Amino acid sequence: MSDMATQIAEQPAQGMGEATSLSAWQQHHTTAVANVVALMMRKGGAGKTTLTLLLADALVRFGLRVLIIDLDPQGNSSIGVGKKVQLEEVPSLNKLGGKPAKRPTEPTVLEVIEADIAGVAEDAIQLVDWGYDADEAFPRGGPLRTGQIGTLGIITAYHALETEAATWRPGDLEKLATALLLPTEDSGDVAPNVKWDVVLIDTPPGGSLISIQAAKAAYHALLVTQAQRFGVEAIPDTLLLVQEVKDSYKHEDLDVLGLVFNEYTERSQTQGQLMAQVEEAQSNNDPDYDVPVWKGRLPNYTVVDKSQAAETPLSAYLASGARGERDTARKVCQVAEAVALQLLAGIRHPHADELKALWKQAWPTHQRSSVIEEV
Ligand SMILES: Nc1ncnc2c1ncn2[C@@H]1O[C@H](COP(=O)(O)OP(=O)(O)OP(=O)(O)O)[C@@H](O)[C@H]1O
Ligand SMILES: [Mg+2]
Repeated sequence: MSDMATQIAEQPAQGMGEATSLSAWQQHHTTAVANVVALMMRKGGAGKTTLTLLLADALVRFGLRVLIIDLDPQGNSSIGVGKKVQLEEVPSLNKLGGKPAKRPTEPTVLEVIEADIAGVAEDAIQLVDWGYDADEAFPRGGPLRTGQIGTLGIITAYHALETEAATWRPGDLEKLATALLLPTEDSGDVAPNVKWDVVLIDTPPGGSLISIQAAKAAYHALLVTQAQRFGVEAIPDTLLLVQEVKDSYKHEDLDVLGLVFNEYTERSQTQGQLMAQVEEAQSNNDPDYDVPVWKGRLPNYTVVDKSQAAETPLSAYLASGARGERDTARKVCQVAEAVALQLLAGIRHPHADELKALWKQAWPTHQRSSVIEEV
C-alpha cells in the first residue's frame, strides 16, 4: 500500500453519528460550489459509465478540471481511464495460515469511505494521462483553446466496495459527502470538490446503498438510459430513488438535471415514438417522468466500445481512427460536448456561456451535426 493509503487506513474514524438537524456537510451544501453530479439509472448497461467517460473527455478538452469518482464495484470508469485497481497480497497474520488477504496498491473510494474524515477524498485522487496533444486542433481531438488541456483525476473502485456496502448503517451513508464536500483542517477552508470544475460520480445499477451514498454526496443527478423499452421503463424507479434520498435520507437539495438518451439510432421509428412518449409525459407533468429530456442523444456506434476497450478517450479517434471511425467518433463527441455544455449550464459553471460560444466556433460548418444548432 502507498504511504497515502496507509495514512488513510491509520487515521481514526470520526463517525458522523445519526443526523439530528443539518449535518456538517449539509450546511456546507448550501454555500459551497454545487459541482458534484451523480450519473444515475437503475438499469444495468444503460450508459452511466459511457456518459461519465464521454463527459470527462469533453470537459477536459474544454480546459476544465474534472474528477471522476467511481462508485461502482465493477470499476468500469477506473478501467476506462486506464486505472484498473491493482491488488497485492498481504501476508496472513494468522499463524494457522489461511488465505492471504488482498488489498489495493493505491487507495480507492472504499478507503475514502471507511476513513470517514472531512476532506480525505483528496488523498485518493489519481491523475490520469489520457494522452492528449495540447497543440492539436479541437476537431482533431485537441483542446478547445490551443495549449489549454484540462486535468482529469479519478478515485477508483473495485469489487470489495460491494461487500463493504452490505454492512453500511444509515449513519455511514454520508461518509463520501464528508470526505468530498468538507474542508480538511489544514486546507484553508477548501473542500476537495472545490478544486475541480466538475465532479462526476459513476454509480452502479440497481438501487442499493451505494447509489444512496452517491446521491448524498451529489448536488445533482443526471439520468441516462437507452432509447429502448426497458431503458424507458427504468426511469420512474430511478426518479423514485432520487426522491427517497431527498425525503428519507434528508437531502432535499438534490436536484435532477435531466435525462440523456443513449444508444440512439436515427432511423428507428420505435425509438422515436418511445422518446416522444417520455417527452410528452414530462410536459404533462406526469410525476413518473418528471425529468427534462436533454436534446443531445448519444448515437450507438462501435467506436464507443472500442475506445473503452483501448482505455483511451473517444476523441482520440477524431484524428487517428479509420475513416468510418473518424466520422462516427465525431458524431458521438459532438453530442457528448453538447451534453457537457448543458451540464455546465445546469451546475451554473461561471464559464458555461463562454465555452458554448467557443465550441460553436470550433466545429467547421461542413462537420457540424444538427445537435450544434439545437444547443
Ligand atoms: N452510445 C453507445 N455506443 C456504443 N456502445 C455503447 C454506447 N453506450 C454504451 N455502450 C456499450 O454498452 C455497454 C454498457 O454501457 P455502460 O457500461 O456505459 O452502461 P452502465 O449503465 O454504466 O452499466 P452498469 O449499470 O453495468 O454500470 C458498454 O459495453 C458500452 O461500451
Ligand atoms: Mg457502469
